[in-house]
Amino acid sequence: MKELSLHILDITQNSIRAQAKLVRLVIIESLANNELTIIIEDDGCGIPADRLQNITDPFVTTRTTRRVGLGLSLFKAAAEACGGFFEISSTPGVGTKVVGTFMRDHIDRAPLGNMADTILTMVMSFGETDLNYEHDYNNQLFVFNTREIKEILDVESLNEPDILNWIREFVQEGLEEIMEENIYGKVLSRTKSDS
Ligand SMILES: Nc1ncnc2c1ncn2[C@@H]1O[C@H](COP(=O)(O)OP(=O)(O)O)[C@@H](O)[C@H]1O
Ligand SMILES: [Mg+2]
Repeated sequence: MKELSLHILDITQNSIRAQAKLVRLVIIESLANNELTIIIEDDGCGIPADRLQNITDPFVTTRTTRRVGLGLSLFKAAAEACGGFFEISSTPGVGTKVVGTFMRDHIDRAPLGNMADTILTMVMSFGETDLNYEHDYNNQLFVFNTREIKEILDVESLNEPDILNWIREFVQEGLEEIMEENIYGKVLSRTKSDS
């Protein structure tokens, strides 16, 4: 896939299909370790141990609409092609955690993509499910939590044009802030092509 955000959207849709109430998305970018890590964790139905073993085999799917499941296998392949690794753990009735790490400056690493738009797409498609997004850029943390925002605004759903516009700006500005605050990061990202 052209952008890692497309993997993120795809894998969070697994969580929605698994009837998660809360999806946690954590992105950790460490320039010092030359690492980018993506964690997607949910409290959905989980995966039985016997199916978890070969879950990244493209022919493993519980879909009935098509016979191949590609989301996890593509994400695993992307991470491994970039000197990273993939991990999935799951407990039936508790939830599932997917981790992918990438060598950040690996020539084959796809750009992350526009996270403000990605978060917006998630909020719009999540229905009742809440999202907790944490982005750590060189130890600067940005957090976006839909439960908190629903409480502050005293609304049940964030799926309103005004709220969505505000969310996009909030995420965009929050991410710009954590990325700017780090001069070391700034220098590195300007001397290296990030695409
Ligand atoms: N977060 C999750 N919770 C429960 N089951 C999951 C989760 N992620 C994946 N699965 C199971 O693993 C299968 C393979 O997932 P994936 O590779 O994304 O392919 P697809 O979604 O097309 O089936 C899914 O069909 C589903 O049964
Ligand atoms: Mg999938």
